[in-house]
Amino acid sequence: MPSTVALSVTRYRPEEESEPTRQTYEVPYRKDWVVLDALNYVKDKLDGSLSFRWSCRMGVCGSCGMMVNGEPKLTCAAFLSDYFPGPIRVDPLQYFPIVRDLVVDITDFIKRLKRVKPWIIWKEEKPLAEGEYRQTPDQLDFYKQFSMCINCMLCYAACPVYGLEPGFAGPAAIALAQRYNLDSRDTGALERLDILSEKNGIWDCTFVGECTKVCPENVDPAGAIQQYKLTSAAHWFKSFLLPWGTK
Ligand code: SF4
Ligand code: FES
Repeated sequence: MPSTVALSVTRYRPEEESEPTRQTYEVPYRKDWVVLDALNYVKDKLDGSLSFRWSCRMGVCGSCGMMVNGEPKLTCAAFLSDYFPGPIRVDPLQYFPIVRDLVVDITDFIKRLKRVKPWIIWKEEKPLAEGEYRQTPDQLDFYKQFSMCINCMLCYAACPVYGLEPGFAGPAAIALAQRYNLDSRDTGALERLDILSEKNGIWDCTFVGECTKVCPENVDPAGAIQQYKLTSAAHWFKSFLLPWGTK
């Protein structure tokens, strides 16, 4: 059995190259290694100039997302043994501009996220002296799944609509909007609905469902979008029948 595996990695050094190129490194094959371990081996032992993002190494920070053999993956959770005997191809997350090597520019995603107001919108904020805003376990369960998002952007790299229509709000932003809509403390659902019912919102989604398949946290962004579409349709129907009674 070979004791190494070939790692074929995108390189892009904008000060030297006008287009991305590829570079292949032979790294030790170890069953307990993930792709991120192999990249760190390259960085530490073979080529310190290789750039990539990571932090927690345990599927929490969301920063190590890359394309591994063409699929969006957290590289800290993608075992070399799943790709053995290789070669293993590692690319930056698709549909995002490359900053350098395997690092992508996430500015666009952050803008999209801000647009849907992913925070609690209070009707009236009570004074601190009045204490916490309490929730029952059932109220928490209602939105908990959508709150598990780690902003890894794998769902964007898996979404053909985002690839074709970069204006699309995208799966994670919509799932996070829904997380706040379902929160018993929030009163901003109609504001978000107005934003997400417009062009580049929920109706751009063609329900391919890849976002949900690749999500490492089981957030189910595709499910969130379908819930949103139902709410939006019901709201439109009500506003059509009762134009004075929906807001
Ligand atoms: S919804 Fe899932 S795949 Fe998308 S950013 Fe959040 S955790 Fe990542
Ligand atoms: S390094 Fe934090 S999620 Fe992979």
